[in-house]
Amino acid sequence: ALQVATNVTEQKHHVSRDKRGQVLGNLRGFRGCTVWFTGLSGAGKTSIAFELEAYLVSRGIPAYGLDGDNVRTGLNKNLGFSKEDREENIRRVAEVAKLFADSGVVALCSFVSPFSEDREMARKIHKDSDLPFFEVFVDTPLNVCEQRDVKGLYKKARQGTIKGFTGVDQPYEKPETPDLVVKTIDCSVEESMLQVVEILEEHGIIP
Ligand code: PPS
Ligand code: ADP
Ligand code: MG
Repeated sequence: ALQVATNVTEQKHHVSRDKRGQVLGNLRGFRGCTVWFTGLSGAGKTSIAFELEAYLVSRGIPAYGLDGDNVRTGLNKNLGFSKEDREENIRRVAEVAKLFADSGVVALCSFVSPFSEDREMARKIHKDSDLPFFEVFVDTPLNVCEQRDVKGLYKKARQGTIKGFTGVDQPYEKPETPDLVVKTIDCSVEESMLQVVEILEEHGIIP
């Protein structure tokens, strides 16, 4: 039976976000937020998110990459790729990202997150806690992702050894109003990453 938490009460911290920000990083100030990368497998989510993680950390801004492949071997190892399991994957990760962001870290989430309603849930989880949330659509066409086939997964999906693969036999719902669309064709990972840096500068996350 589905269990739900009852008789729980919010317990208030004694440390404010401003106070937290004062002890974090070279640049001081609270910069906690979540950058959410969505796109097809092979679009470039992990490459861009990890390049951005290195960029931020090298400038003294605490950042941490939460990645689908990694989270699915730990916290979410009991989840598969059905619509329901993807929703639970995104819900848990959004809650984890919220905690990272609240602690003052820039949380970089790289998940296929193919369903609009799940991405909206992730956004709402942050909005309800008054934390900035940036949805970045890594907009690489299917044929290019399939040509890259970084992990050989498209090949397996076409052969039918992987079922429910996004873009092959499960849908990818393109974001209608992302905060940023990043193209990856004819540009380097660094160039794509710097497009994300720009919006973080515009929003005062990076000074
Ligand atoms: S989701 O949709 O957000 O819950 O997926 P995510 O947690 O990002 O996990 C996607 C990674 O798992 C591998 N993989 C698959 N992706 C899509 N569909 C299916 N069926 C699938 N099976 C395994 C793949 O390595 C994905 O990582 P990326 O980095 O996108 O290639
Ligand atoms: P995802 O995590 O979305 O599945 P990956 O980052 O694992 O994607 O793979 C993307 C592949 O595309 C990598 O081999 C990467 O080097 C390549 N690539 C080429 N140009 C770019 C770019 N501008 N941005 C991101 N990845 C790129
Ligand atoms: Mg990846």
